[in-house]
Amino acid sequence: MADIETAKLTFGDKVIDLPIMKPSVGPDVIDIRKLYAQGDVFTYDPGFTSTASCSSTITYIDGDKGELLYRGYPIEELADKSHFLECCYLLLYGELPSAAELEDFEARVTRHTMLHEQMQYFFRGFRRDAHPMAIMVGVVGAMSAFYHDSTDIGDPWQREVASIRMIAKMPTIAAWAFKYSIGQPFVYPKNSLDYSGNFLHMCFSVPAEDYVVDPILSRAMDRIMMLHADHEQNASTSTVRLASSSGANPFASIAAGIACLWGPAHGGANQACLEMLQEIGTVDRIPEYIARAKDKDDPFRLMGFGHRVYKNFDPRAKVMKQSADEVLGLLGIDNNETLKVAKELEKIALEDPYFVDKKLYPNVDFYSGIILEAMGFPTSMFTPIFALSRTVGWISQWKEMITDPEQRIGRPRQRYIGAPRREYTEIEDR
Ligand code: SDX
Repeated sequence: MADIETAKLTFGDKVIDLPIMKPSVGPDVIDIRKLYAQGDVFTYDPGFTSTASCSSTITYIDGDKGELLYRGYPIEELADKSHFLECCYLLLYGELPSAAELEDFEARVTRHTMLHEQMQYFFRGFRRDAHPMAIMVGVVGAMSAFYHDSTDIGDPWQREVASIRMIAKMPTIAAWAFKYSIGQPFVYPKNSLDYSGNFLHMCFSVPAEDYVVDPILSRAMDRIMMLHADHEQNASTSTVRLASSSGANPFASIAAGIACLWGPAHGGANQACLEMLQEIGTVDRIPEYIARAKDKDDPFRLMGFGHRVYKNFDPRAKVMKQSADEVLGLLGIDNNETLKVAKELEKIALEDPYFVDKKLYPNVDFYSGIILEAMGFPTSMFTPIFALSRTVGWISQWKEMITDPEQRIGRPRQRYIGAPRREYTEIEDR
């Protein structure tokens, strides 16, 4: 047994030894599980800025270096050399697949892309102008009512089937939510297409004519999916872990994660960021918005900027920025005003002491919307695309949690600042 280092916590007449646990990379962690029993105190950390909720082997982020590793592999290398389903295999099983393993995995995903035919009636119950995220929350939660043979989280085989089903069906659900919102018929998946090509086919093809997947768009879509696949214990992943810690089935837990991702401080930022860039409109209006972002009395924030962990460039934003230049160039969209505003906004912000001092850099959501808009998606589809990409991360973290012997139902405590015990008073005495 390696030497167990301890942290000494001294307060009042108490001295409590807390074990220090070593990671493979990153900060040590102080194990406070016995603190309440030994010291009759809680720790206090709203927003969990200094709290590790679990041990994980999946994704590592170094916020100071701007480093992101999926199972140890740098995101930049994967974005350049890998593809989304290979990343899915890596995140799910921990190693890059052999050619045979990848072929088998892709075949299994391909054969689960269709939805139960009854599920289309859930879409039809929504108003046409429903936000696609609202539809995804509802339809993914409803999967619990259709796939009973993969809801027993205690059965490894059912966990495997649920994982494949979630990864395979999310593009179909997202695409059908999009089709429903624009009044076009649902397009079924085609097994002859690859994962990202199939998604584009289901979004943009219509029965009235043939649709040929553009390889430039398909590669761009695949890269966007890779960049969003997992990100350690972010809010939506923590939501999935907390929901499934009670034993809830994977579909209900993923639906909770989708709901959390929708918020503009999280996955909803890609939609909010593009809308902000469009509202700014031209480069000459940037100073006005920079001033608002710095104004304590103005709730406005630069969407797509800042991050709880990254205090350097989000490595995904760098790849996304290169991809934006490449895709718009290949599509012949040269003088895209929105991209011009985004680049100038980034330049001005990163020269401004407010952003420099607070270490606020562009994050994954800053450039993604520019690419997605150029590909033909409305802003309402940006977060659904984030959700379908992050499904593999949610599922990988869910599987890891289910088999982690240290995991128990998540149940935080609180610092109570409400009324102390008091007697009920009759209404005539109030
Ligand atoms: C994602 O966690 C993940 O990993 C998330 C994600 C993933 O892959 O899962 O990376 C995806 O959610 C990326 C983030 C997308 N959100 C946005 O772009 C929304 C805009 N950003 C902010 O709302 C904010 O930066 C957060 C929510 C991302 C981070 O919030 P924190 O860590 O709680 O930081 P904070 O709000 O405490 O900000 C620190 C300071 C504050 O000023 P002070 O009170 O210290 O004076 O920086 C300021 C904030 O006012 N600040 C900003 C700002 N972000 C932070 N000021 C202006 N514009 C901003 N964008």
